[in-house]
Amino acid sequence: MQTIIGKDLNEAKILLQRNEVVGIPTETVYGLAANALNSEAVLKIFTVKERPHFDPLIVHTHAIGEIEKYVSEFPAKARMLLEAFSPGPLTVLLKKTAVIPDLVTSGLDTVAMRIPKQELSLQLLRQLDFPLAAPSANPFGYISPTSAAHVYHQLNGKIPYILDGGSCQVGVESTIVGFENNQVIVYRLGGLSLEDLERVAGTVIVNSISSSNPVSPGLLKSHYAPRTPFRLVTASEAASLNLQKNSAVIGFNEWLPGVPKDQQFLLSEKGNLNEAAKNLFAVMRQLDQMQLDEIVAVEFPEIGLGKAINDRLQRAAAKH
Ligand code: TXA
Ligand code: MG
Repeated sequence: MQTIIGKDLNEAKILLQRNEVVGIPTETVYGLAANALNSEAVLKIFTVKERPHFDPLIVHTHAIGEIEKYVSEFPAKARMLLEAFSPGPLTVLLKKTAVIPDLVTSGLDTVAMRIPKQELSLQLLRQLDFPLAAPSANPFGYISPTSAAHVYHQLNGKIPYILDGGSCQVGVESTIVGFENNQVIVYRLGGLSLEDLERVAGTVIVNSISSSNPVSPGLLKSHYAPRTPFRLVTASEAASLNLQKNSAVIGFNEWLPGVPKDQQFLLSEKGNLNEAAKNLFAVMRQLDQMQLDEIVAVEFPEIGLGKAINDRLQRAAAKH
């Protein structure tokens, strides 16, 4: 199978209607999309991604009114958050109806729903009469793709089409939240900051640290991992870093003294955490292709998207 990259909405639409799998852009990362209401189409996602069936998928739609079709309960806080942050990098876990195949949710009684903020994909979703199940478009466990070229690089020959929406504006996956007794629980830190969530929903509980969280199986301790040995250090450890020659450092905005500049990759020289998140996965991929002996990342400030960045860096380091 030849994989084509293009901006042809109609082509993407026809393929999806035929139950094929298509790479789609979102503001967070690229997704590997198929008709969420058709088990045969959904099965192809798992096959292409080499994803274990115990790891459920996110279902994408274009409006809150669409989400209502697929869920049996709509807690007030879920509605508040969706109204405040959709389209956007927010995924809500809600009790599902029987319309959603069990394969999509890995047998769980909740379905993960989100409205992506990406114009091409929103147009596509509006033109389809079914929602799209889509995990990040990377082989299971590897770094998520933030451009069409990233998807092509890894899935060339396995899917017919990648809809090219340019590079992702947010750069880390959506924040996943669930609802229990009027309480918001965060299962994955992501592109919507905790500060923003709490401004609308009040105090939230963060439950994403567990090493193998059965509620959100994608939150395995090791995930988003490059193949190159990967180490995460604190800012104070970085000050006296013992660095091998053939290695590189990922940092936020400050050059480390004593480390050659060509070995340092700053994610936002001007010190903007949103910009750093946008650049994170592209830089990790770039470094992973350089045959280095080691990649060292320096912890980010624990505010705003810095929390989600640190979460990804910890999981990347956990494998090594
Ligand atoms: O930003 C994103 O969320 C991207 C774009 C493509 O939308 N998607 C994404 O999908 O990151 P994926 O499959 O790589 O991660 C989805 C996560 C997994 O960790 C999965 O375990 C969790 O969502 N998940 C999905 N459905 C769930 C459910 N019903 N209950 C708990 N966790 C769920
Ligand atoms: Mg993923």
